Amino acid sequence: MMMHVSLFLSRLILPLLCIISVLDGAFVSGENDYVSTVGDSGMRRDAWNFCNEVGAEAPDMGSPRAADCFNLTSTSLKHRVSEKDNLLGVGTPFPGISQRALCNVDLYAVEKELYLGSLCQVPDSPKPWQFWMIMLKNGNFDTMAGLCPSNGKKTPPFSDPRRFPCFGKGCMNQPTVVHQKTQLLDGNTTLREAFSGTYDLGSNPSDGLDLISFYQVEWEKKRDAGSWQFRHILKTSKNYPWLMLYLRADATQGYSGGYHYDTRGMLKTPPESPNFKVRLTLDIKKGGGSKSQFYLIDIGGCWKNNGKPCDGDVLTDVTRYTGMANPETAACYPTKQGQGWIGDARTWELDVGGLSSKLHYYQDPGTTSARRIWGSIDVGT
Ligand SMILES: *[C@@H]1O[C@H](CO)[C@@H](O)[C@H](O)[C@H]1NC(C)=O
Ligand SMILES: *[C@@H]1O[C@H](CO)[C@@H](O)[C@H](O)[C@H]1NC(C)=O
Repeated sequence: MMMHVSLFLSRLILPLLCIISVLDGAFVSGENDYVSTVGDSGMRRDAWNFCNEVGAEAPDMGSPRAADCFNLTSTSLKHRVSEKDNLLGVGTPFPGISQRALCNVDLYAVEKELYLGSLCQVPDSPKPWQFWMIMLKNGNFDTMAGLCPSNGKKTPPFSDPRRFPCFGKGCMNQPTVVHQKTQLLDGNTTLREAFSGTYDLGSNPSDGLDLISFYQVEWEKKRDAGSWQFRHILKTSKNYPWLMLYLRADATQGYSGGYHYDTRGMLKTPPESPNFKVRLTLDIKKGGGSKSQFYLIDIGGCWKNNGKPCDGDVLTDVTRYTGMANPETAACYPTKQGQGWIGDARTWELDVGGLSSKLHYYQDPGTTSARRIWGSIDVGT
């Protein structure tokens, strides 16, 4: 249950991730003085859980992938992805789609992402790149629907009301999406765009947010200077108590961040432990209480238990995550409660590579240590 919205930055090379994140609603904590968490501690991307598939498209929203990218000159902005492209939904062909994917909602979204990537791709060395990713997920899981495969096999329904929220049939739906395309504003000096929506289908965020879930991502940049600033808002509701919203730099090809299919992104050369750092600027405006968790940085990679890289075989590929909620001194992570939290905006330079090289991951006895290559770097809640 996932939606990707992708942003493409034409003619602007951003070596580092720079964001401003505003978090709202019943999420985000930061009160805990964590060191680091290894693996999928919050079951955030467990194959049992959201299963990273579409299930069903939300009415009139198309397949849950959308992109915004453009060619920029000093006075004009030409969009490369049309509204029609973004609304493409299962059953509607587009260039390059396979017969297999045309009538299958899950496969359709995968191939739509590749198609949007082809529209946004920027030639570069050693590889072309496509876009930043924004990932929005609904943590509801209808265990009685038998929707998610486990280890590549269809699974029968099972009852587990304590582990997974679900209000009943349809709880794994996709959200509504309202997209305001990137515009040149303020005398052509500023670029801005946004998208927003809700999981509570049938409700309208402009009528008030009290009882409904809501998300919004807005990004802005001075045309000739600085980095993009991303502003995130996320609010849960009774029916959608567990939502996730991340900004991600994903590999430009491969199985980035836990998907068993080819994806698109921003990392021309996925970083390898131990030699990389991540710099990001964070300004938290509002926290979400003790049940929420904020990832200052979260990285994902994939290798098999025998140390070989993943190849898309869901039976043996093992996705590895390292989430850093409030981590270690040596790597310049927050060391005191509240550091970098509300009212304490700052720029972090995180030795993510160094830290991730020290962590233990299971491997079969006697096998050669895997190269720790990370296909996804995320920040969010
Ligand atoms: C954007 O620029 C590329 C490369 O110059 C060009 O091929 C493409 O047609 C342009 N697209 C639009 C919508 O202007
Ligand atoms: C901004 O660009 C438009 C053309 O798209 C032009 O007509 C206008 O004069 C520009 N404004 C400034 C302040 O440069």
